[in-house]
Amino acid sequence: MTAIVETRDLTRRYGSNLALDHLNLTIPEGAIFGFIGPNGAGKTTTMRILTTLLAPSAGEARVAGVSVVSDPRAVRRLVGFMPDFFGVYDNMKSWEYLDFFGRAYGIPAQRRQQLIGELLELVDLGHKRNDPVMSLSRGMKQRLSLARAMMHDPQLLILDEPASGLDPRARIELRELLKELRALGKTIMISSHILTELAEMCTHIGIIERGKLLAAGEVQQILRSMRPHRIVEIRIVSGAAHAEAMLRTHPDVLELRREGARDTEENESGPLNDATGPHTLLADFAGDEHALGELLAALVTAGVRISHFAEQSGDLEDIFLHVTRGIV
Ligand SMILES: Nc1ncnc2c1ncn2[C@@H]1O[C@H](COP(=O)(O)OP(=O)(O)O)[C@@H](O)[C@H]1O
Ligand SMILES: [Mg+2]
Repeated sequence: MTAIVETRDLTRRYGSNLALDHLNLTIPEGAIFGFIGPNGAGKTTTMRILTTLLAPSAGEARVAGVSVVSDPRAVRRLVGFMPDFFGVYDNMKSWEYLDFFGRAYGIPAQRRQQLIGELLELVDLGHKRNDPVMSLSRGMKQRLSLARAMMHDPQLLILDEPASGLDPRARIELRELLKELRALGKTIMISSHILTELAEMCTHIGIIERGKLLAAGEVQQILRSMRPHRIVEIRIVSGAAHAEAMLRTHPDVLELRREGARDTEENESGPLNDATGPHTLLADFAGDEHALGELLAALVTAGVRISHFAEQSGDLEDIFLHVTRGIV
């Protein structure tokens, strides 16, 4: 994968305050990258540098290979920015708002009309075309602002805390919209200080605290590196006793628990009976994915019937607490 964003020792000072401290960030093309960190961590500063609104004190940042320092004009054509606080001109209608920015981008009149229609449809505001911006809900204003950020068809969308202040429904709509944008080939960088806002939305995350990147990569990869073993959840319809015996002696199974068992006694209280099942077993598995495939094959070959066999997905909250210390 090629990187659409790359920063090298990116540093920004506000007076004596070091807001970004040698930040090295890479965002692969096509990712939905969640930029997570507590308030004051340096998220907005990073985003403002990537959108050329702010100059770095030292270091370098590139968007699609173009330097924000030496060629800011070219970078502006590549990125669309939705700031955390956006001014919408309240006395304008939705389409007029987009038309205003379309003119600013120098989009010809005919193309502009068509584009405004397409973008309003994309963000589900087609029916609000002639409504004053003032009358839109917060979620709708945000989607309008997103349409605005897309007027010049940027490759990279940078959204600063877009989910803050949205109700759960608007948040789900935002998530769906981001998926659509990704399907259109856009890379999306989205920040939040609330981790759960970004859960399930992102392919990659980076955790920043006090201007330093603490962890970054694919969500699943980070989870795995924090937790050396996988917990595999196995639901058994028949052959539970046999399955349990096989798992207990398997070299890669470090620990085996019966779901719902509160203590060792309950975990070892005689063989499992299929009549009282289905039973779910939780195996702490130290092998790799290949070994996991072999385990499933061996169980099935031995006549065990399984209705569910999956690695438990870890919690993003866990990672966050693990890597941050909560001080900014
Ligand atoms: N315009 C500014 N002048 C002085 N300090 C600033 C300014 N903007 C941000 N900072 C400081 O830089 C640090 C990072 O801020 P910011 O990038 O806004 O963090 P975040 O978006 O993660 O909450 C904070 O310590 C903040 O107080
Ligand atoms: Mg911010």
